[in-house]
Amino acid sequence: MTSLSLSPDGSYLTLELMGQPRRFHAIWLRDNAQDPETRAPGNGQRLLALRDIPAKTRLAAAELSGETLQVSFAPEDKTVAFDLSWLAANAYDKAGQKAAGWLPEHLTPWNSSLMSDVPLGDFQELAKGGDALRDWLGKVNRYGFGKVVNGPIEDGALFSVVDLFGYVRETNYGRHFEVRTEVNPTNLAFTGLGLQAHTDNPYRDPVPTVQVLYCLESSAAGGENMVVDGFAAALRLREEREEYFDVLARYCARFEYAGETGVFLTSRRPMIELASDGELVAVRFNNRSAAAITDVPYDQMEAYYDAYRQLAEFIDDPAMGVAFKLEPGESFIVDNTRVLHARTGYSGAGSRWLHGCCSGAIVITCWSRWASGSRGRYSAHATM
Ligand code: FE2
Repeated sequence: MTSLSLSPDGSYLTLELMGQPRRFHAIWLRDNAQDPETRAPGNGQRLLALRDIPAKTRLAAAELSGETLQVSFAPEDKTVAFDLSWLAANAYDKAGQKAAGWLPEHLTPWNSSLMSDVPLGDFQELAKGGDALRDWLGKVNRYGFGKVVNGPIEDGALFSVVDLFGYVRETNYGRHFEVRTEVNPTNLAFTGLGLQAHTDNPYRDPVPTVQVLYCLESSAAGGENMVVDGFAAALRLREEREEYFDVLARYCARFEYAGETGVFLTSRRPMIELASDGELVAVRFNNRSAAAITDVPYDQMEAYYDAYRQLAEFIDDPAMGVAFKLEPGESFIVDNTRVLHARTGYSGAGSRWLHGCCSGAIVITCWSRWASGSRGRYSAHATM
């Protein structure tokens, strides 16, 4: 039997949910009422501003009926119903302070052991939508990384991957960028050098959230791709050297790019970015576009560089990354706010041709609506 009680002044109620007592404030319940005068049926948008709700809103009565809680508010004299499952999913009365660097439950940090379970999708299957696309996007959301095989081998094919979940985000590089290397062993200038793992465009604000790299040609030896979970590297830093984690999260680095006439992009953001409540929200790491660091106090600068070096060593550690080689028609997608990508050098002769582009973040919010066919609008959409 679920227990329910009102506070003497009606400012909150206490409800037992899944064996735990959870308190809900009167003003919170009123603001989150699900009735059609408060929320638009269909799109769920709130129809009231807070000013429309009396500041002294109190609970006049509350009653349980099966899986529903009926609540009456004063002074409005309004009664609304809440599903207990909705209240359980949105309960905020939870004990305990989260440690800096906490992650929401839908994200899982990973290391090289993900190699045996890379989120893999067959383009022909993904293009049909439905469960295959839902499951693959779910994994991309969880791990910040996914691979696609069996795609078309033609100019612009990467856009068909973006079309699976979002929209192209155009930058100063255009709708897409070329990563083309002719490897000629007689001329070292054309040797394809390896690139340390990095996030792309940290000098851009906002930073590109989703990156797609699509292989059209690959005949050179080497040139393997590697991806590293920046969140896992940051959490390892917190575990092994917490003071290093703190200094990289506390102070901003600077990044810049000035490669073309009329283009000068700069940003000032920490390498490890936390939300105000400590949630780990982004990692930025790119040795090529790091600018002079000028926001760290003099007496912290050496510690900052020690921390930066240690983070780099974790990122370079083969035990942290997943390596693979893309064949023509294959691509991979990363959450560029989290997962770093790297490339090993080439040897011998041949060529390597990739197309890349930016997209918005995949936001997977409502699988039930996916099932009902409203995929593009509700289930996986892009934000900038
Ligand atoms: Fe890159």
